Amino acid sequence: MTGAIPQRTQVGIAGAGPAGLLLSHLLYLQGIESVVLEIHARQYIEERVRAGVLEQGTVDLMVSSGVGERLKRQGLPHRGIGLRFAGRSHRIDFQDLIGRIITVYAQQEVIKDLVAARLAAGGQILFEAEAVSLRDLDSQRPAIHYRHNGAEHKLICDFIAGCDGFHGISRAAVPEGSLTVYQSAYPFAWLGILAAAPPSTEEVTYCHTDRGFALSSMRSPELSRLYLQCDPREDLRNWPDERIWEELHARLAADGAHPLTEGPVLQKGITGMRSFMIEPMQFGRLFLAGDAAHIVPPTGAKGLNLAAADVRVLAEALGEFYRRGSRGLLDRYSSICLRHAWKVQRFSWWMTSMLHQFPADSPFDRRRQLAELDYLMGSHAAQQSLAENYVGLDVSLNL
Ligand code: FAD
Ligand code: PHB
Repeated sequence: MTGAIPQRTQVGIAGAGPAGLLLSHLLYLQGIESVVLEIHARQYIEERVRAGVLEQGTVDLMVSSGVGERLKRQGLPHRGIGLRFAGRSHRIDFQDLIGRIITVYAQQEVIKDLVAARLAAGGQILFEAEAVSLRDLDSQRPAIHYRHNGAEHKLICDFIAGCDGFHGISRAAVPEGSLTVYQSAYPFAWLGILAAAPPSTEEVTYCHTDRGFALSSMRSPELSRLYLQCDPREDLRNWPDERIWEELHARLAADGAHPLTEGPVLQKGITGMRSFMIEPMQFGRLFLAGDAAHIVPPTGAKGLNLAAADVRVLAEALGEFYRRGSRGLLDRYSSICLRHAWKVQRFSWWMTSMLHQFPADSPFDRRRQLAELDYLMGSHAAQQSLAENYVGLDVSLNL
């Protein structure tokens, strides 16, 4: 953003991740003004490698709200996923099972599309602006205090949307005792790479092996995204590229599967895994959305989609407030989102538990996991259940 430092807005948004940017866009479409404050530079957020699978509902929302042009052209529609276990390859066809599909499109591309749309419409995104505190949340005029270019500023708002991710400041601004935290940590992490190599699988493919979990995904016909289950304390320096490829070859091996294609590693990182929920997701005039409110383990490919689901509800609720002066939907924001988020949390936990090797697993546990996968591949009903959760459950505004 260029020009004056904003001091007053209708909705102050902390964080320009998918949640904050999409909310700002959806508000703009309803004539509601917002200011987005983002701690990082534009280039940083547009290059940050994260999620890659969009549910059909997320794609529909992007397209219907006018930011889906590039997604329609460059997104990779996938009608199912692959599953490998006990050395064999299987697939689950969402299109056949439920008539809906997913789209592979990188999170940073979603970010680029949203930033471009906001700026083209004269939207206010202040980069390199750090929200440092939220004040007067239970008053009519809550404020975000932020730092920009070495100076402190105050943004007075009607409402604040805390979209600043898991490590942001918004959640911590809620007074102690007003939030209940529910969480569960997993005894493993994912080591992820982005490689300049054609994808080794046609579809996103989840692999259960005795060496641990692996995932083969992609970003384009020339770019692979691959993950390995690893120890959460693992040091990346112990994983030179050759070791990563060797381990990927071993974990992705299956009867009749194409051999893995290697290529230069462009990026690598380790992501810890946790399930985290807070209740409620609102306090006074602060509304938390996306990772600021909940974290799911990535095995269900849900984090970004859940953030989109939250802000869709929030945008609608704020629209109702400004159009009709009604707080009805705003007051139910948390209950509506939590009802959906807990189902997504359950699904992500289930996928994670079924596919990973837990250090405390006994031989019994491993056989039980294989029986579960075998049951899944033999049951139309079980596949249909996976399909409807993976492609995305609808959010009901009715409670
Ligand atoms: P974020 O994307 O985290 O956005 C929050 C924004 O707020 C950021 O831009 C941050 O810079 C900004 N911010 C933070 N603090 C402040 C502050 N004080 N002031 C101003 N701005 C601030 N999900 C999957 O489904 N699959 C994956 O493979 C996957 N990989 C991931 C890898 C990593 C390293 C991480 C962290 C997450 C990953 N996720 C993945 C989860 C998914 O990317 C998130 O669920 C999604 O980004 C949530 O969007 P959000 O807008 O809520 O939060
Ligand atoms: C990804 O492509 O980055 C990806 C795909 C599926 C997941 C998680 C991440 O479950």
